[in-house]
Amino acid sequence: MPTLPPAMPGMPLSEVDTPALLIDLDAFERNLKRMADAVSKAGVRLRPHAKTHKSPIIGQKQIAHGAVGLCCQKVSEAAVMVEGGVQDVLVSNEVIGARKLDRLAALSRQARVIGVVDNPFGVSEMAAAAARNGTRLDVLVEINVGASRCGVDPGGPAVELAQLIAREKHLRFAGLQAYQGRAQHFRTIEERRTAIDEAIARSKQTVQALKAAGLSCDIVGGAGTGTFELEAASGVYNELQAGSYIFMDADYARNKRADGGPYDTFEHALFVYATVMSMTQADRAVIDAGLKTFTFESGPPEPIGFAGAVYERPSDEHGNLNLAQSNVRPALGDKVRLIPGHCDPTVNLHDWYVGIRGMDGPAAVVESVWPVAARGAVF
Ligand SMILES: Cc1ncc(COP(=O)(O)O)c(C=O)c1O
Repeated sequence: MPTLPPAMPGMPLSEVDTPALLIDLDAFERNLKRMADAVSKAGVRLRPHAKTHKSPIIGQKQIAHGAVGLCCQKVSEAAVMVEGGVQDVLVSNEVIGARKLDRLAALSRQARVIGVVDNPFGVSEMAAAAARNGTRLDVLVEINVGASRCGVDPGGPAVELAQLIAREKHLRFAGLQAYQGRAQHFRTIEERRTAIDEAIARSKQTVQALKAAGLSCDIVGGAGTGTFELEAASGVYNELQAGSYIFMDADYARNKRADGGPYDTFEHALFVYATVMSMTQADRAVIDAGLKTFTFESGPPEPIGFAGAVYERPSDEHGNLNLAQSNVRPALGDKVRLIPGHCDPTVNLHDWYVGIRGMDGPAAVVESVWPVAARGAVF
């Protein structure tokens, strides 16, 4: 059972209970539009990743902005999106295990569901699940485009796997999954370009080898928020999977543009709202948001409006704002907004999004309260 929401529509921002996950709706909507404009200008499709938001309400807004469907990373996440009315879902990750595969296959009776494989075992298990469930699944072969996580080698090994799929009555070969995850957070454009040039070359080589074997790719998918412009211009990728662009976390803001400036294509739209709960030390404010509110693998959250303050020493329910280098002194009970270090896993810690209209103005107000419907959908 989710908790009660920390706010109700119509409340002023200052009355939102904390810790709460806030969306700046104006910035979020600008991000939606910027990405929609960029992909339509590039002539490619957008299939944004729902692992970022875990919300069919947000997914439907992306679809209303032209996305062809969504990506999910887990079958349980996909089930929540389909339940929320999304009609085209790619589970962009290997699914191993009969129970999961049965759920994937059953889901394909309600919506278009696309699976991903990188080994022959995965092909035969997926085919068996599709047969058991009386359905036919579209399948992508994941190729290793340089990140060396999942993915079969490009070229010959990918073609062999695609041929296995094509021979299965209950599967249909639909193309390639070619995501270069490591490249997303390379800080300079040169580093990102080098990595994505390699991903493009590996994808092109594989598409050509498949063509020579009589197999065509409806989908060549990949790309994240850090590199999508490169894949979009590649002439080989036709579906972009960026996710974080809707929210932009503190880590992504450390990427650099081509001219060396901060990566500002998208705006920060996701925040945690927290309360100053204790101030027993002169240069320290303790807030009610710690390890159960943020994740820290991509660095600490960044407080807004406290120049020089540093978030440090999180514990389960506490966070410390070190104010030694800041002239700003909050009062007990003040509320503070922070940009999460990494949006996806931080979202997964919360039950609700509180959507704020006019975030930076005097009349900031709660406009929407949306469940993080696929919170905990990690199986
Ligand atoms: C397969 C896949 N595609 C796309 C993305 C989206 O990347 P980002 O949130 O960095 O835009 C991810 C993120 O991890 C991913 O795993």
